[in-house]
Amino acid sequence: MLILQTDLPLRLFARGKVRDSYDLGDRLLMVASDRVSAFDMVMPCGIPGKGKVLNKLSAFWFRKTASLLPNHLECEVDDLEVLGRFMPVKENDPALAFLVGRSMIVKKAQRLPVECVVRGYLSGSAWEEYRRNGVVHFHQMPGGLRESQELPQPLFTPTTKAETGHDEPMNEAELEKLVGQKQARELREKSIEVYQYARRFALTRGFIIADTKMEFGIVDGKLILIDELLTPDSSRFWDVTLYQVGKSQPSFDKQPLRDWLVKTGWNKSPPAPMLSEDIIELTSHRYKEVYRRLTGNELEGE
Ligand SMILES: Nc1ncnc2c1ncn2[C@@H]1O[C@H](COP(=O)(O)OP(=O)(O)OP(=O)(O)O)[C@@H](O)[C@H]1O
Ligand SMILES: [Mg+2]
Repeated sequence: MLILQTDLPLRLFARGKVRDSYDLGDRLLMVASDRVSAFDMVMPCGIPGKGKVLNKLSAFWFRKTASLLPNHLECEVDDLEVLGRFMPVKENDPALAFLVGRSMIVKKAQRLPVECVVRGYLSGSAWEEYRRNGVVHFHQMPGGLRESQELPQPLFTPTTKAETGHDEPMNEAELEKLVGQKQARELREKSIEVYQYARRFALTRGFIIADTKMEFGIVDGKLILIDELLTPDSSRFWDVTLYQVGKSQPSFDKQPLRDWLVKTGWNKSPPAPMLSEDIIELTSHRYKEVYRRLTGNELEGE
C-alpha cells in the first residue's frame, strides 16, 4: 500500500518531508510515509516500501544501540492490537491498517535543539569546507586529504536545528552555552559512540556509513536518543565495493533517482517531474536492499 499522505483523527505533532508524527499525550505516533525527497524537494510520487524500510531500520538500530544509551522507542506498530494500547482503535479498522509496519510509538521528549552530526569521511559540505580552507567545522585538518577519504578520527560537527532556514554549525562554546557543559560533552561522546558502533557493524554488511545525524531529548531528566536513527534519510550509505577515494561517492539509495532527475533536465525548482515507472522500481529496490543487507531480513509487504 503506497502512502503519500496521512490524515489521522489525532493532533498532528510534526509533518516533515517524509514522516508525520501525531501527539498521544506523553507519547508520539511516528509514521513514515513513502514520500521521497531529492535536492531538498518532495517528489510527486512515492517509493513503494520506503516508509517501512525507514521505520524498521530505525527500530533495528534503536534496539541494537540500547545498551549504549536509552532511546525513545516504545514499540513498533506490528499490528493494530498494539496500537490499541495507546489510542482508541476499532477492531481491525481498515482505515488504520496502513500504519502496520510503517509506524512506531515513542516516548515524547523535551527535544534538544541540536543536530548531532558525526562524520567519519570527508564528504558533502565538509569536503567543500576543507577544500576552501583546510578546516572542517572549526577543526584544522591535516593537509592533502582527498574527497571521500576516511578522516583520522570521527568528527562531531553539531549544528543548530533551525525552525526556518539553514542549520548553522555550532562550535564547542556555542553548544555548551545552549545545553550546558556536562550535556555538551555527553552529546559528543554518545554521538561518536553510536556512530562508531554502527559504522563497524555496517561494514560487516558491505556498507560504509560516511556520516550521520542524530537527535537527543530529555525524558525524566535523562538523555535519550530520539527521532530517526541511521536511516538512508539521516546518513550517507556507500557501497563498500564501489568506494573510491578522490571523488564523490554514489549514495546507495538515492543516486539513481538523482542521476535520473539530472538527465531529465529538470531545473530543480518546483514542480518536480513525475518519476518514471523504472526509476520508482529501481529506487524501491535500493531501499529494500539496504534493509535486507543491514538487518539480514527481507522486508515483508510494502
Ligand atoms: N521522541 C520525540 N519527542 C519529541 N520530539 C521528537 C521526538 N522524536 C522526534 N522529534 C521531533 O519531531 C520532529 C519530526 O519531524 P520530521 O523529522 O518528520 O520533520 P522535520 O525534521 O521537520 O523535517 P525533515 O523532513 O527535513 O526531517 C522533529 O522536529 C524532531 O526533532
Ligand atoms: Mg527531521
